[in-house]
Amino acid sequence: MSQPTLLVTGAGGHLGRLVVETLLESGAGKVIGTTRDPSKLADLAAKGAEIRAADFDRPETLAAAFAGADRMLLVSTDVIEKTGRRLGQHRNAVAAAVKAGVRHIAYLSGPSPYPTPEPSLIGDHFWTEQAIAASGLDFTMLRDHIYADMLLFSLPHAIATGTLYTATGNRGRNYVSRADCVAVAAAVLERAEGKSLLEVTGPAPVTQDEVAALASEVTGKPVKHVALPAEAMRQGLAAAGLPPAMAEGLVAFDVAAAEGFHAITTSVVKDWTGREPESVRDFLIANAAALKA
Ligand SMILES: NC(=O)c1ccc[n+]([C@@H]2O[C@H](COP(=O)([O-])OP(=O)(O)OC[C@H]3O[C@@H](n4cnc5c(N)ncnc54)[C@H](OP(=O)(O)O)[C@@H]3O)[C@@H](O)[C@H]2O)c1
Repeated sequence: MSQPTLLVTGAGGHLGRLVVETLLESGAGKVIGTTRDPSKLADLAAKGAEIRAADFDRPETLAAAFAGADRMLLVSTDVIEKTGRRLGQHRNAVAAAVKAGVRHIAYLSGPSPYPTPEPSLIGDHFWTEQAIAASGLDFTMLRDHIYADMLLFSLPHAIATGTLYTATGNRGRNYVSRADCVAVAAAVLERAEGKSLLEVTGPAPVTQDEVAALASEVTGKPVKHVALPAEAMRQGLAAAGLPPAMAEGLVAFDVAAAEGFHAITTSVVKDWTGREPESVRDFLIANAAALKA
């Protein structure tokens, strides 16, 4: 039997690009990468991927972009607004996938999605999952937990000031590296059958007290964690200049952790890649130079 044609949306993003590279290296057959600006992906085309233009804000681009694809990794977009635009983008992509004859959608979702009264990062994931389930296609919801890579954005300020603020109530969060999520996504895109939900986690939850201690250990600088109420955290992020939708999204993820939704552990990384997931400690040690800089 011939290999199915695999398509990765958002091939210009961190995750999408790495998934395309992983598929090409593993000899996965025909690989299509879609992106808003194909000129930026000439290197992937040279390695053997077919690069096509697709913009979820412009549904008229999607029929040609998705033509011939059997299986699709739908990478959620990075649009952070309270307008509902991101959900509209994802719904456009799902509708176009159905029309193009895609059989299986793997969707890059988030940890334990739930509906929110107004558009939000986690609400978008919930409603996109609903749209995919309603499409009748086979699917895999890749509920990637918070990337350990996000610590490279939050910890430098904590290391510089000596204080890590969160609204997690010091409940655990099971960080997973983006590299592990890339490997899972590539394997799922190639092999998953039927309809399933996968919570993609690291090896064990860590509390923010533990994250602060690890940051101290890795950099040699004292860092302590201070648990804030959600509203104080939101005000702090806004005062630091974060756009309101971004601040609300980050606080909502902290509140979800405080409620225990980020503390689960699954064997998804090992099941799909054959390797143990990277721990936060190993991730921070591997990135010590960036944290010390
Ligand atoms: N679990 C977590 O902790 C976590 C952390 C960060 C992000 N995420 C989610 O995972 C996604 C991928 O992460 P990343 O690190 O690769 O993000 P990234 O590098 O910021 O990439 C953003 C992605 O959004 C796509 N995109 C933006 N506008 C689009 C549009 N109009 N039509 C189609 N695609 C569009 C981009 O595709 P092109 O540039 O190729 O068009 C790109 O793949 C993010 O967008 C976010 O939803 C999760």
